[in-house]
Amino acid sequence: MRAQFQLLLLFVVLNLNSGFGAVTTTNRTLRAAAGGMFIIGVGINDRIPERPNDWPLLISQFSAMTPENSLKPDPVQVTEGKFNLTRPDAFVDFAASNHLLVIGHCLVWAKDDRTPPWFFRDGTNVARRDLLLARMKTHIDTVAGRYRRRIARWDVVNEALDDGTNYLRPSGWSAACGEDFIVKAFEFAHAADPKALLVYNDYNNELPGKRAKQIRLVRSLREKQAPLYAIGLQGHYEIDRVPLKDIEDTLAAMRELGIKVVVSELDIDVIPRGRWWADGGKYHDELSKLDPYHDGCPPEVLQRQAEQYGQLFRLFRKYSDVIARVSFWDLHDGQSWLNTFPWTRVNHPLLFDREGKPKPAFDAVITALQAPPP
Ligand code: GLA
Repeated sequence: MRAQFQLLLLFVVLNLNSGFGAVTTTNRTLRAAAGGMFIIGVGINDRIPERPNDWPLLISQFSAMTPENSLKPDPVQVTEGKFNLTRPDAFVDFAASNHLLVIGHCLVWAKDDRTPPWFFRDGTNVARRDLLLARMKTHIDTVAGRYRRRIARWDVVNEALDDGTNYLRPSGWSAACGEDFIVKAFEFAHAADPKALLVYNDYNNELPGKRAKQIRLVRSLREKQAPLYAIGLQGHYEIDRVPLKDIEDTLAAMRELGIKVVVSELDIDVIPRGRWWADGGKYHDELSKLDPYHDGCPPEVLQRQAEQYGQLFRLFRKYSDVIARVSFWDLHDGQSWLNTFPWTRVNHPLLFDREGKPKPAFDAVITALQAPPP
C-alpha cells in the first residue's frame, strides 16, 4: 500500500509542470512559515487516498489532516457492533505514507442528531447511564484502540456546551449522565491510547457566554483528573465579524489555566450567514437565492478577507505558547462545506482558490507568520 502511494505521488509531482490537476505554484509553505510555533493542519475529504489531484497541495502545505466525516460516530457505528472503518483505515495508511499527522474527529458528538439513535435506546425504553457509558466505552476502545499510536490526537467530545442558558446542550448524553459523559469519554480515550493528545472541541466557545462554560468545563475536567490536553476552537468565522478580542480573551484565559488551544476548523466565510438562524428562520427564502460571488469573488472582498486572516495569525503568533495547532476546514475554496451550508452558494472562505492557487489570504498568513515577533 505504502509503495503504491509513494509511486502515485511521484507521478503527480513529475506531472506538476504539465498542468496535471490542482496544484499550488508557490514554494512558500504554511508549514515552514509556522514551523517552531504550531502545527498547520487541514480537514479534508475522507477519500483523499483516491484523489491524487489534491495531494501536491496537501503534502506541500500541511503537516496534519483531519478526516471530515468518516470517523464520526454515525458512519463508524450506524448499527450496534458493526464497525465501518474501511475508509479511516485507508486515510490513516495514506497519512503514514506521507508523514502527515492524523487528527481523529470525533469519538463522541454530543448532539442527538449526530449520534446513531440506538445508542440512546434500550428496547422500547430510554437507555440508562450504565448502558450508555458501556456503549461509549466499546466505541472508544474499538476506534481509538485500533489506531493507537497512528492517530496522534483525538477530538474526544464535540459540541457539548449549550448555546442557550444551560451549561450543557440537552442530549441523550447529558440527560443520562450530566457532565460525567465528558469525563468518561476522556478516561476511555486515554485508556485506549495513553499517548494520544486529547481535545475538547466546540464552536463559539470563544464568545463570552460559552467561554464561561468552557472555563467551567476545563476546571471541572481538571478536578476530576480527566486527561484534557487542549480545547478546540472550531473557528468558523465570517468576514468583518472575526471576534478577535474574544479570541484573545480566550487564549489568555487558557494560558492562565495552563491548557493548550487548537484552532480546529478555521475558515472565513465571505457571505455572512448569521441571519439564517435569526427570527425563526424567516430569511431562509431570501438567503437561499443569495449567491453574490457565483462568478468569482471581487478583489476588494478577497483583500478584506486577507487582512482579517492576517490579523488572526498575528494574534495566533502572539499566543504561540498556547496554540498547538491551526487546522483549516477544507483544502481549497471549491471543497469548502460553506458552498452548501446552510444554503447553496459559491463561497471563497479559504487560503487557496478552486485551482489550488494561493489567494491574497495566503500571502497575508505567510507574512503574519514571518513578521518579527510582536
Ligand atoms: C462541525 C463539525 C465538523 C463538520 C463541520 C461542518 O464544525 O465539528 O465535523 O461537520 O461542522 O462540515
